[in-house]
Amino acid sequence: MLNDHHLDQLAQQHYLRLDGFFPVELYSALRKKARALVENDEMERAGIGSGAQFEMNKRIRGDEVFWLNRQDEDPVIQHFWKWIQDLSDQLNRAFFLGIRDAEFHFAHYPKGAYYRPHFDQFKDRNNRLISFILYMNDQWQSGHGGELVIHNKSEKIVVEPLGNRVAMFRSDAVLHEVLEAHQPRLSLTGWFTSQPLGLGFLT
Ligand code: OGA
Ligand code: MN
Repeated sequence: MLNDHHLDQLAQQHYLRLDGFFPVELYSALRKKARALVENDEMERAGIGSGAQFEMNKRIRGDEVFWLNRQDEDPVIQHFWKWIQDLSDQLNRAFFLGIRDAEFHFAHYPKGAYYRPHFDQFKDRNNRLISFILYMNDQWQSGHGGELVIHNKSEKIVVEPLGNRVAMFRSDAVLHEVLEAHQPRLSLTGWFTSQPLGLGFLT
């Protein structure tokens, strides 16, 4: 899954980029699923609140999401969870991270959506350890926007959201943002967590 070079990079830079991470059939099936969710209008506004809070959220992030269920019997989703389980085991063996669970959602950034700079650990919930994003934009070209920008120490790393590209980083240590998307942008985003989330996963 990850080789020693990848693990070193993640340890030293707190960040890792990988191309062609998933087998093509699995990647294509996941992308097809994401596209269907958008077409059928099944995604929901992320971090939604009401009234003033809704307006504030919209200024911070404009994506919509669909959370994956552990119990989903779709073989594509089951296959994906199997990969995530294996990846989790590998990360725990390499870093003694104490990953005990994971949560994932598909994400769709409509034209004009962005996500302002942030860390992935919530202030009141100190449980996200590693962030993982699979990009699904096969036709992405420069000018389409929606790049991930990582503000790592003094460097700024720009990651184009290309098809079957994965970005991983330490959820607590890496400040990052998503630049405005000028074309619809699809991803599958998740977090390996230190607390069991009660979803029947891992531990
Ligand atoms: C997030 C996030 C980055 C990306 O959902 O928290 O930062 O590139 N996503 O989609
Ligand atoms: Mn984030």
